[in-house]
Amino acid sequence: MTPINRRHFVQAGMLTAAGSALGPASLLACSDVSSDFGRRSTAEDVTEGLDLSGKTALVTGCNSGIGYETMRALTLRGAHVLGTARSLEKGQEACDSVEGRATPLVLELTEFETAVRCAEQVRAMGTPLDILICNAGAIFDELWHVNGIEAHFVTNHLGHFVLVNHLLERVLAAPQGRIVVVGSRAHESAPDDGIQFDDLSGESWFATQRAYGHSKLANGLHSLELARRLEGTSATSNAIHPGVVRTNIARNLPAWQEVAFRVGGYLFLKSSAQGAATTCYVATNPDLRHVSGCYFADSNPETPSADMQDAAMAARLWEISEELTRDFAA
Ligand SMILES: NC(=O)c1ccc[n+]([C@@H]2O[C@H](COP(=O)([O-])OP(=O)(O)OC[C@H]3O[C@@H](n4cnc5c(N)ncnc54)[C@H](OP(=O)(O)O)[C@@H]3O)[C@@H](O)[C@H]2O)c1
Repeated sequence: MTPINRRHFVQAGMLTAAGSALGPASLLACSDVSSDFGRRSTAEDVTEGLDLSGKTALVTGCNSGIGYETMRALTLRGAHVLGTARSLEKGQEACDSVEGRATPLVLELTEFETAVRCAEQVRAMGTPLDILICNAGAIFDELWHVNGIEAHFVTNHLGHFVLVNHLLERVLAAPQGRIVVVGSRAHESAPDDGIQFDDLSGESWFATQRAYGHSKLANGLHSLELARRLEGTSATSNAIHPGVVRTNIARNLPAWQEVAFRVGGYLFLKSSAQGAATTCYVATNPDLRHVSGCYFADSNPETPSADMQDAAMAARLWEISEELTRDFAA
């Protein structure tokens, strides 16, 4: 497959009828965007001075790590955050602990009916969705399946695919809706030939890091294809790498690895406040209103792997994801 520049792909994309048209010429090249924020910037730093009152944001995985800090920063700036968690109790506890307005919703990414239900609840609120952040994610030490599909791919990609499809009309109803997909630089650990369309069970290629990387490549390609489909509307889609952040992400790894991650974390890794910065920057910075189909790290654009720029792979992933989730189609 031939890698192409993400921006060229977006500019060549078809226009959709929904949303208010900006036209391809309005989009900035990914490389034309830069900020003075960096590795040490926090979510509060990148949102300082912003007034997000009147805006509604949905953050998946709001009860832990980067998602929690993202919710905390966005509510602090005045946004109403709809925070998803796997149970109402977890979500309620997280939402109750932040300053500002946060409402819990239930989302279990391996059970697509919860994504449909979650989206229905959002639509019933009748408000546009200014910001949709696909943040929740997991790493597993062992191969396991959901309906025969490798579990990282289902959890990190397919669950969000269903959710976003059901919420797209809400994002398009916002003056300038933004979708931010939390990927990872770990996408570089995906199998050499990218998405394993011929064996999504993982039986022939599973190793923890490779499978996690495969799902994070899917996150990036999902965002890329979304950007193409949103071309000509006021909405944007971008993917980010948060950095290596001391959160609960290692919870399913062998005990010694989790301990090493925690101990090393205090010395070398980003805090959650720093880890949420790139998400919040891309979700809120006024300079990024005409930026779509890009990939960011440390609140600046970065060039992802050739596979993550592969337009054909992104389109095929969309088709396969549609097939795999057709019983839950929007
Ligand atoms: N930490 C890093 O170094 C790092 C680096 C690159 C990318 N990321 C990405 O950053 C995102 C946030 O991770 P984190 O580091 O903040 O980890 P975390 O502290 O473990 O938080 C992950 C969140 O995702 C939720 N989640 C996990 N499995 C789920 C499922 N099946 N359905 C619904 N929600 C589920 C968790 O809920 P529970 O608490 O109920 O399990 C939790 O709210 C992930 O997409 C991760 O891949 C992290």
